[in-house]
Amino acid sequence: MSTEPAEQGLSLHHITVRFGGLLALDDVSLRVPPGRTVGIIGPNGAGKTTLFNVICGFVTPQSGAMTLDGKPFRARPHQLNRHGIARTLQGVGQFDGMTVLENVLVGARTKSSERDAWTALERCGVADQAHALPKTLPYAKRKRVELARALAAKPRILMLDEPAGGLDADEIRWLADLIQQAGTTVLLVEHHMELVMSVCDEILVLDFGKPIALGTPGEIRTDDKVAEAYLGAAA
Ligand SMILES: Nc1ncnc2c1ncn2[C@@H]1O[C@H](COP(=O)(O)OP(=O)(O)OP(=O)(O)O)[C@@H](O)[C@H]1O
Ligand SMILES: [Mg+2]
Repeated sequence: MSTEPAEQGLSLHHITVRFGGLLALDDVSLRVPPGRTVGIIGPNGAGKTTLFNVICGFVTPQSGAMTLDGKPFRARPHQLNRHGIARTLQGVGQFDGMTVLENVLVGARTKSSERDAWTALERCGVADQAHALPKTLPYAKRKRVELARALAAKPRILMLDEPAGGLDADEIRWLADLIQQAGTTVLLVEHHMELVMSVCDEILVLDFGKPIALGTPGEIRTDDKVAEAYLGAAA
């Protein structure tokens, strides 16, 4: 069992989200202790992005609660930085009329954080593209700009929604290194199983909004319910 004080980090308690008749999240609980990398996987439409949206305050659950370091936590999107939370969007979500540097500055905490923006650009290997417009860059580079924007906030919880989507094997290896060296808590939504299994300490599996398994990569790999959910999705 864990030896951390129970209240540290982010905790979700019995989160339920309905969109009309659709149960997008069905009684989901999750503990994200500081410094851990926690994966959230599941077939398309399982509710992974919705869970991110709840944490970020874009979606208000019908029931359930969250705590951050033991205190009641209800995020508002514009206060995420203040709570030390930064996220990337599924796909790429850049402002096309702004340069790469300007996009990353949006993530930085204050106007004086230009140095953090440059550090993040360098860490993501896109500093030499700082004055380019994102849409002129290859997709993999745009994904790196997205990561740099999140890292520029120097978050303590970094939330990544399908960061490997559309990337080749070399880029995914680079991403795995970045996640492992992030030095922060990471919440990772991802379909690329090899990446998930290699970087996560713990994995939550959702299927039609329901948590069907929670465990280490080794446990999830051999879980019958998980195999069934994915086989069902493939059929
Ligand atoms: N704002 C919304 N209004 C209505 N339905 C929604 C909304 N957001 C998501 N949904 C529905 O909720 C379910 C869960 O969607 P979600 O985007 O969380 O899935 P996901 O696990 O991220 O899937 P994917 O792997 O395809 O990204 C889906 O059926 C989706 O159509
Ligand atoms: Mg999604």
